Amino acid sequence: MKIRNICCIGAGYVGGPTMAVIAQKNPKINITVVDINEEKIKAWNSENFNELPIYEPGLSDVVKEVRDKNLFFSTNVDDSIRNSEMIFISVNTPTKISGEGKGYAADLKYIESCAKRIADIAKNDKIIVEKSTVPVRTSEKIKQILKSNNENVNFQILSNPEFLAEGTAMRDLKIPDRVIIGGENTNKGKEAINKLVKIYSSWVPIKNILTTNLWSSELSKLTANAFLAQRISSINSLSELCEETGADIEEVSKAIGMDSRIGSSFLKTSVGFGGSCFQKDILNLVYISRSLGLKKVADYWEQVVIINRHQRGRFADKIISLIDKYSFKNKVSFLGWAFKKDTNDSRESAAIYVSDILIKSNISIDIYDPRVNKNQILFDVNYINNDVEKNEKSLFIKDNPYDCIEANNIVAILTEWDEFKDYDWEIIYKNMSKPAYILDGRNIMDRNKLESIGFNYIGIGR
Ligand code: NAD
Ligand code: UGA
Repeated sequence: MKIRNICCIGAGYVGGPTMAVIAQKNPKINITVVDINEEKIKAWNSENFNELPIYEPGLSDVVKEVRDKNLFFSTNVDDSIRNSEMIFISVNTPTKISGEGKGYAADLKYIESCAKRIADIAKNDKIIVEKSTVPVRTSEKIKQILKSNNENVNFQILSNPEFLAEGTAMRDLKIPDRVIIGGENTNKGKEAINKLVKIYSSWVPIKNILTTNLWSSELSKLTANAFLAQRISSINSLSELCEETGADIEEVSKAIGMDSRIGSSFLKTSVGFGGSCFQKDILNLVYISRSLGLKKVADYWEQVVIINRHQRGRFADKIISLIDKYSFKNKVSFLGWAFKKDTNDSRESAAIYVSDILIKSNISIDIYDPRVNKNQILFDVNYINNDVEKNEKSLFIKDNPYDCIEANNIVAILTEWDEFKDYDWEIIYKNMSKPAYILDGRNIMDRNKLESIGFNYIGIGR
């Protein structure tokens, strides 16, 4: 079986960019990305490449190059499954909000419904590639669903987790540190692995393509995210110690990062990590460990999430204390809403949780983000506290940073967008109520410059 047609179920942050790059590097393979969300598919097919559903530097150029040549976006899931030899499952795997494992386990209902659909439709052999992040041994579940619903077709399951980070997705996809492909240790399993290796090897050096068994591949993805998030929580926990002792977390971070055994990545202190995956994947790891009776392992990893919540809470408390101490009016400005710079994604952004605490303390917020729109911001807060009326009265979303900051005493930086550093902070200072405070939740601003203008600067861990 030669791979000529690929179907990818799920046109989200992973499915869209990943398939765009695979299509660009494999012009002889036709790839159709399908989704049940019609709006999203419409946006992927938009004439205007600025209207793609995802903002990711460099993405629109690649989509422009390959769309309607060998990359297609469609809502016709069944046809695409029918016509493809290889099917990537790239749907969301959020934390369960009800039932067994609620609040911890990954909800596999979207994965399961894809497997059922594939089984119902497939008439010839297929390779199913698990691209979504899933608990270890999920491929076994997928196989069971496929086999019990369709005995006539041979399905090979591969695990091929994605390691791209938002904001740098195109670079991560084009020059990945490694690609992991897990499969069964049988002849058919090895054959399937080789087919996927061939697709990646059209641009990834073969030494960077790791082949493993299925469970190692699945667990490597959860482990990689847990390690990355653990570093952030470690540095964030020490930021509080710095504030109490007079040490500066930026200096500490630099000093330890220069130890080649530790390395400098992921040691940037912040208001807390966000994004759709770190928290969900660690909670999933905690759930798996607890289910297996590994209580100490579970407790160890859960601390990463506990420290992250604590860090967000500390930032909100600093704002509340300033307002109480100086009897400022109950309104502050936020610069940034996305969970990190260079993305329009705000899932699990620290800004949402800090806002929620402030709203509950009757503090209103003027908000500006270069990429996240008003509807999304309101959706995010309504999703976590359900108090739609109060949220709408408390949140004022601005189209312009200068309007956002005018007349408040406190401006807080929630996302590390580069443009924030280049604003005319003298004008901003003039327009703010005095005394003017800047709470830098990302330690990106030039403290000396701001203090010389007249600001009171409060960073994290310094
Ligand atoms: P997403 O929410 O952006 O996209 C998922 C898409 O799947 C949605 O558009 C949804 O409509 C679609 N979908 C769900 N069920 C479907 C079905 N039955 N048929 C057709 N379409 C369906 O999610 P994402 O951020 O792309 O993440 C997908 C997976 O990849 C998750 O498991 C995530 O943990 C993992 N991951 C995400 C990132 C990231 O940076 N976002 C990075 C690496 C791995
Ligand atoms: C992360 C991983 O980096 C990817 O490898 C992985 O594929 C992805 O999760 C996933 O599975 O979804 P992403 O969440 O897109 O990628 O972005 P990161 O750069 O990892 O940042 C996550 C959060 O941590 C952001 O809120 C960021 O601001 C914060 N962060 C990051 C810090 O606070 N300090 C740091 O030093 C680094």
